[in-house]
Amino acid sequence: NNLPTTASHFRHVDAMVPQPSAAAAKLSQLKAVVLGEAPASEDDEVVVPSHEFSRQALVPSTQKYLEMYKSSIEDPAKFWSSIASSEFYWKQRWGDQVYSENLDARKGNIKIEWFKSGITNVCYNCLDRNIDAGLGDKIAIYWESNEPGFDATLTYSELLHRVCQLANYLKSIGVGKGDAVVVYLPMLMELPITMLACARIGAVHSVVFAGFSAESLAQRIVDCKPKVVITCNAVKRGPKTIHLKDIVDAALIESANNRISVDVCLTYENQSAQNRESTKWEKGRDVWWEDVVPKFPTSCDVEWVDAEDPLFLLYTSGSTGKPKGVLHTTGGYMVYAATTFKYAFDYKDSDVYWCTADCGWITGHSYVTYGPMLNGATVVVFEGAPNYPDPGRCWDIVDKYKVTIFYTAPTLYVTRYSRRSLRVLGSVGEPINPTSCRWFFNVVGGSSCPISDTWWQTETGGFMITPLPGAWPQKPGSATFPFFGVQPVIVDEKGVELDGECNGYLCVKSSWPGAFRTLYGDHERYETTYFKPFPGYYFTGDGCRRDKDGYHWLTGRVDDVINVSGHRIGTAEVESALVFHPHCAEAAVVGVEHEVKGQSIYAFVTPVEGISYSDELRKSLILTVRKQIGAFAAPDKIHWAPGLPKTRSGKIMRRILRKIASRQLDELGDTSTLADPGVVDQLIELADD
Ligand code: PRX
Repeated sequence: NNLPTTASHFRHVDAMVPQPSAAAAKLSQLKAVVLGEAPASEDDEVVVPSHEFSRQALVPSTQKYLEMYKSSIEDPAKFWSSIASSEFYWKQRWGDQVYSENLDARKGNIKIEWFKSGITNVCYNCLDRNIDAGLGDKIAIYWESNEPGFDATLTYSELLHRVCQLANYLKSIGVGKGDAVVVYLPMLMELPITMLACARIGAVHSVVFAGFSAESLAQRIVDCKPKVVITCNAVKRGPKTIHLKDIVDAALIESANNRISVDVCLTYENQSAQNRESTKWEKGRDVWWEDVVPKFPTSCDVEWVDAEDPLFLLYTSGSTGKPKGVLHTTGGYMVYAATTFKYAFDYKDSDVYWCTADCGWITGHSYVTYGPMLNGATVVVFEGAPNYPDPGRCWDIVDKYKVTIFYTAPTLYVTRYSRRSLRVLGSVGEPINPTSCRWFFNVVGGSSCPISDTWWQTETGGFMITPLPGAWPQKPGSATFPFFGVQPVIVDEKGVELDGECNGYLCVKSSWPGAFRTLYGDHERYETTYFKPFPGYYFTGDGCRRDKDGYHWLTGRVDDVINVSGHRIGTAEVESALVFHPHCAEAAVVGVEHEVKGQSIYAFVTPVEGISYSDELRKSLILTVRKQIGAFAAPDKIHWAPGLPKTRSGKIMRRILRKIASRQLDELGDTSTLADPGVVDQLIELADD
């Protein structure tokens, strides 16, 4: 029996339920929040959902949440199978065991399976099932171009037709079940179309964020060996034109050097950015999307797959250099993405939903494409940059489409625009500080929209700790409580579970349907990274504090991973990019707090002997990172380092570097164990601000 005992957990749960009278007593604090004043301690700042909101909410009260949560923990099989069977189409029901798991490497291989032997298809559930239920004429996608005034729409039926045409084309070139398809597209409608077309035929998409460089793209192509790469010739982002096809060309040359050749490069002609005449072309390999796809029939048989067949791969950064191919499978991911979407945003059929994330990241997978479309939602897909042509663009879009649910990273600007339509706000990707949370609530949400500060990861597939608007009094800056079926625990460095008010490493005990199943081609790394640090638990890599009322406060990564504007970057990746530069002998990268981006990248660089510091070298180092990884990973700061603080065994002491980077010079701590304590003084001298 794999069921964890729930007794100790429920001690927290019961303790964490604010009693109704306590909630009422906190109303005066609510007033303080609305007025934008902070109470003495962030732990005491409570925002109670309005009656009006709670009354109509899917989970209208704390009691209801607890009831559902308890049943999800006490009998996960029953809880999830009842959702899976009532809300999704299965060609064949799963076997006797709804799920099986082993999260303890001491007991054998780590294994997580949900709905095994159940036969289904995610694309069918997103499109055909909703169309059969009468949503054929409902808008599936409102597409908003980079340039204001250019837009397009697709109904669910139209979307299905487009998806089928592409699916048929892919089949015609020999792409089938289990084949990888690398997608390097910006936020055109063709991106969700491509994801759904792959899902329809059982192919495994691997979307690479179109801000990654040719080298990064090549690395991913070499790892998953796709038959086809799907891209477009160019895209406009803000005032800039980015020639994606040139990047793909370079990546394919690099892949070929590693003996991986790709037969077909399907290229969408994005006329607003570049015409086909000026696009470089390799005959025999390159194919214009518009020349082939529209010729195929608008219906396409579904490839029925096992719940445990892979749906997609998504590469993400870890604490070592090589990106990890996070693998999600079909059935559990489908059920989890849809259910978290529905409850965390309190989704209603009449909602218009906009998530500003790019489909190149997990947020775009679960909460632009799959979660919303499984619910038959109307989704805004935005091609451009949030501040182009001016900082009010986001709010223009909210007003234009009467967006009711707005989900974004907490790095936005205040503007003059009305947001009357908004009903629920969501935030993701980085700790949201109470001040910006208050701003989001007061200014963006007009003091009436609940905010869902959703904590989760590429690996978790969907929300893990998140407010359910309507159910819980919220505390600005806290992700609050676990979603159904999720059992977060906070452990100390020895892996001992901490009780009550505490601070430590965030782990999860027992699996949930949306959990990733492996790292592509490297199950051993999966076990080592996530399950061995604290045996018996999934280790998230995040620190977390639980307050006196049981609320969870994420405190940031505890490994060498940083979050820049919601983009996850491994410090080791940036370091290997820097040392790729012929004049860089050594580099150490840390994250520092940044007002707008959450964290920014701060690099200490030792040039090779004989090379002196110069602005030119600084620029060329930054350019190297842009070329090796992508512009979003470029360091904000290069700090010259004649030497780096190392222990006698040669390990770089990042703790000290972090303090120097954030100029907390009086908190350097003990430096006597360094091989050469003098380097610290040198570094401080070279801090140029
Ligand atoms: O450190 C946590 C942070 O983002 C990491 C996951 O990054 P990624 O896999 O790229 O997924 C981003 C979108 C889900 C986490 O380990 N993070 C995510 N959400 C929050 C957060 N930190 C604080 N508060 C959040 N709500």
